[in-house]
Amino acid sequence: MLAASVPVATAQPPSTRTQETFGLGRAATTAEIEALDIDVRPDGWGLPPGRGNAADGAPVWERTCQVCHGPEGKGGTAAPVVGRAPNGRPPTVGNFWPYATTLYDYINRAMPRNAPGTLTPDQVYGVVAWILVRNEIIPNDAEMNAETLPQVVMPARAQFVPDDRRGGREVR
Ligand code: HEC
Repeated sequence: MLAASVPVATAQPPSTRTQETFGLGRAATTAEIEALDIDVRPDGWGLPPGRGNAADGAPVWERTCQVCHGPEGKGGTAAPVVGRAPNGRPPTVGNFWPYATTLYDYINRAMPRNAPGTLTPDQVYGVVAWILVRNEIIPNDAEMNAETLPQVVMPARAQFVPDDRRGGREVR
């Protein structure tokens, strides 16, 4: 039924241009690519300039995060970001995440859930520090930036073993 109502494109004569681009779109600009190129890797590659400690992060937490995650980072409607259950359940930042840099990547990319992408680098470093301090992973006044964050050793780091098996398919 749906197919009958969809207009059918009339065939275009082939040209070099349609062969290269299928006659659609245009090349992305550098600015457009940079806006999407936000991944931060475990070793810190991709972290932007900026800085923040837990005191900087506290007002950001209060304004943009606590509504879902709770004032103390737990007990809200969303996943807890503070606290480690000894048996690993639920999996949390403190008992499961192997790299602190993932906090930057994830928060910058996906949080606050109702307005992702709205935080500045300083605000992200601040809430990352706030979460790490609340989990007793870094000292109270430790500043998080592109140099210090990759050096933070997460409690669950040793529970992950890089898969170095070779000889089969790389992706299993
Ligand atoms: C509108 C609600 C909402 C707001 C506001 C929000 N979050 Fe979240 N957050 C969520 C939900 C829901 C999840 C679980 C995501 C999922 O289920 O995959 C989550 C997951 C997370 C996680 C991963 C937890 C885990 O262990 O999987 C972190 C870290 C996090 N949020 C940090 C933040 C920070 C920092 C802010 C403020 C800048 C924030 N969130 C604001 C709803 C929210």
